[in-house]
Amino acid sequence: MNVDAAADTLDARPPEPFHPPLAELGAPADTPLVPGAKPIGVRDRLKQRMGPRWQARIRRAGRLRLLSKWQNLRRYEVSVRRQPGLALRYLLLDPEVESFTFDVDNEAEHVEFVGEALDVPAERAWAWIEETRTDPELNERFGSHMPLHRLSVKRRNPPGNRLIWYLVARALKPELTVEAGILNGMGTLLLLRALARNAEEGSLGRLVSFDPVPEAGWLVPERLAGAWERHAETTTDGLERALAGREVGLLVHDSIHDPEVQRHDFELALRHAAPEMAIVDGGGLLTPVLRELAGERGTEHRYFREQPRDHVYKAIGSGLAIFRRP
Ligand SMILES: C[S@@+](CC[C@H](N)C(=O)[O-])C[C@H]1O[C@@H](n2cnc3c(N)ncnc32)[C@H](O)[C@@H]1O
Repeated sequence: MNVDAAADTLDARPPEPFHPPLAELGAPADTPLVPGAKPIGVRDRLKQRMGPRWQARIRRAGRLRLLSKWQNLRRYEVSVRRQPGLALRYLLLDPEVESFTFDVDNEAEHVEFVGEALDVPAERAWAWIEETRTDPELNERFGSHMPLHRLSVKRRNPPGNRLIWYLVARALKPELTVEAGILNGMGTLLLLRALARNAEEGSLGRLVSFDPVPEAGWLVPERLAGAWERHAETTTDGLERALAGREVGLLVHDSIHDPEVQRHDFELALRHAAPEMAIVDGGGLLTPVLRELAGERGTEHRYFREQPRDHVYKAIGSGLAIFRRP
């Protein structure tokens, strides 16, 4: 049976979504709190059962995953009749079925958000956004080291939801960044480019990433991996060992949006926190964990939601909390 079809037949439930007061978080009223929560949760479980090699093979089928793409149209409520151009372009030409790349319509809101959260002047944030548009490694050289994988990546790969991660990494200039959930390595590549820019400005940093899938991160070429430490294991298994004797400046969490896993990872990172540490939750508002931790430690929890341009995906946004030592 097709994996996606099998996923829908499993009687498994994802974690209950967290419904915070949106206005309090500055989130627009139509913020999707649980877009596709059921399929995402069920798929995660099925993938865990399949084992890492099969997960990677299925992902590589990219453009052939019509059924998954059809399900995505339903999940994101895109009607072929009402939006034929958008829907057919996605069905026929787009290889991505998860962790999408897309242009955003609200760059000015990104600038405003990092300005408020991290005290960044607007012109600097705009310059960092421009970097993502002009960096050769994120543009013309993107994927050129892996010609056989061309079927599973697009020609243009704007960062989409990861743009805010890039801005946070540029603003904080962390010595140690931890990334949970690598997949192809789109976020990894972007974070490594942010660290490379920071290094050019005199702030050296390393990236430690976790994903149990052995092939995860294949988008990152060897030549850019000097500051990268890749762990082919879950954060549950490997994070504590990896952090021994180290201080974390930034944790970007985009693995499984499970409250137990998040609490484990966030608390561990907090025990190893640098004087200033940010946690970015790529699950947006799907769980309450970051907000609870921020409340317990007397710091603000913020929520940012990007607006995909000309894309079927309905963004779930990212949570952000900054923890400073008293
Ligand atoms: C949403 S994808 C990551 C997307 C990636 N951050 C990007 O920028 O495209 C989630 C990934 O998390 C990995 N994962 C699941 N559970 C994990 C865990 N406990 N620790 C680390 N990675 C995990 C999965 O194998 C999958 O590749």
